[in-house]
This record gives sequence, structure tokens and C-alpha cells, in this order.
Amino acid sequence: MILDANGVMRTSPIVPVVVVDNVSEALDLAKALHNGGISIMEITLRTKAGLEAIEKISKEFPEMLVGAGTVCTKQDYINAVNAGSNFVFSPGITDTLINESKKHTIPFIPGVSSASEIMIARENDLIHCKLFPATSVGGASILKAFAGPFPDIKFCPTGGINLDNINDFLSLNNVLCVGGSWMVSKKLIKEKKFNEITEIVNSSLKIALKD
Ligand code: 3PG
Repeated sequence: MILDANGVMRTSPIVPVVVVDNVSEALDLAKALHNGGISIMEITLRTKAGLEAIEKISKEFPEMLVGAGTVCTKQDYINAVNAGSNFVFSPGITDTLINESKKHTIPFIPGVSSASEIMIARENDLIHCKLFPATSVGGASILKAFAGPFPDIKFCPTGGINLDNINDFLSLNNVLCVGGSWMVSKKLIKEKKFNEITEIVNSSLKIALKD
């Protein structure tokens, strides 16, 4: 399934940001999220198991739109594509990543946190961006400010989002979804409490305005 960045960011109001320590957890985790009502997940490349997890889920559980996060280098980008990622998220925006993204068909969603970075993204036709780290750089308030000069840019704020502030973000016209790790704590994954993850996903979606 190939979606553009707009399609990716409209798949669900919540994009779980997952750190996988062991590839054997990957399928159970993807199914737990899917059972809770979320069919998209970002697997960070912060662990060695991340790429293997993307590969396994994209092959064995295609109902899940799986992509790579924490893509910081050209090699990360190539690895993410080869593993079967449906999309690439980066915490930042660099010429290297922009150039690499142009060689591939999957959407690249760069991280931005300033007006200048948004302008660089827009110069490269990247109008769907992650705001990172969202709460540290001004949260909903900075997004409201960006809506003035950049009415065409849509955001996925990530970093510091939780159930107490999620709707401050989802209520904004320039926010299509938020990313977060609160549903997928390392502890729950390690203890294989996948039913609990499903319940958290389910209740999070009920709280999210755009459910
Ligand atoms: C991250 O950096 O891991 C993601 O942005 C998720 O942030 P969070 O753990 O604050 O949800």
C-alpha cells in the first residue's frame, strides 16, 4: 500500500511511536495496536531490532501501515526503504535526507521546529511535517503562530504529547495527527501485556477529538 504524506497523516489521529528491543515482540505489538483501532505505527531506528521489526510487520501483517522513525542519515533512509517502510519520519530536516527522499516513492515527513525549517520543507514540496519536539518548542501555541504565514503546512506534533494535552493539538486545523509513545511503554512490551496496550489505544482514541 503506497500512501502519500497526506494519506499517511490522515490514517489515524494518533501515530504510536514505538521502540522495539526484540523483533519477536513486533507482530504481537502491531496486532495489539490494530485491535485497539490504530492501523499505523512508527518504529524508531533507535534500536537494532527496529529495522527487522519493520520488515516483519510489513511482510506478515500488511493491515498495519508501518514506517520508520528517527531517520537521521542517508543510510537510515536506505535501510528504512529496504525494510519495507511505508513512510519515513525524521526528527529534523537536512539536505541529505531531502535528496535521498527524492530517489524513493514512499513519503518523507521531516521534523521542523522553526519558521526557517518550514520554509526549507516547503521549498522542497514537503508540506506535511512533524513538529518536534512539540511541547518543548511551544506546543499548540507555536502551531497557531505557524498557521498565519504557513496556512498550507500540516503537522504531526510529536514529543511530549499525552492524554492531557492531545486535544489541544488535534483541535487545530493545521494538525492532522499526533505522535506519541504513551500507549507503548517499554515496560508493557517487555512484560508482554499486549491486551493492556490494546485497552490504552482504545481509550486514547475515545479521548482524541478526531476519533
Ligand atoms: C520520541 O522522541 O520518542 C517521540 O517523539 C515520542 O515522544 P514521546 O515519548 O514524548 O511521546
